[in-house]
Amino acid sequence: MSDRLAPEPLPRRDVLGLAGLWSAAIAIVGSLIGMSRLPKPSVLPESGRRFRIGRPEDFPEGTEEVLTEEKVLVRRTPQGVAAISLVCTHLGCIVSKDASGFGCPCHGSHFGRNGEVGGGPAPRGLRWLEVTQGVDGRLVVDADREVQPGTWCEV
Ligand code: FES
Repeated sequence: MSDRLAPEPLPRRDVLGLAGLWSAAIAIVGSLIGMSRLPKPSVLPESGRRFRIGRPEDFPEGTEEVLTEEKVLVRRTPQGVAAISLVCTHLGCIVSKDASGFGCPCHGSHFGRNGEVGGGPAPRGLRWLEVTQGVDGRLVVDADREVQPGTWCEV
């Protein structure tokens, strides 16, 4: 006989059945969360980004400097200063500079020295970004404004 203060224990079969139902529910919810994240690349270029990179004299001729946080390579030649995005055009991973250009660690795309596609799944070359000189003399990169490869900011 049971009362409210000492209820009868659940039969073992019911406990196992409830545990099975909870496990199935957790697995389904976990799968749905995982599936909702699947189509998104893990790294996306940010939008609305303009940033100062320094003064022209900070980049002497022949300089190639990777700005890790900004995800760009700044190159200075006799023609001027250019910024090449390091965001892979396949799914947005960050490429790294190598001896012959740039390589993507995610799916193996390779880009030439000027960002042109050399192989792999990337559909197009790396983006060249607009570089301008601000009124204070410092160089500004606009990550939202793509320019033709080979476009230099003359400084
Ligand atoms: S993200 Fe670079 S090759 Fe896929």
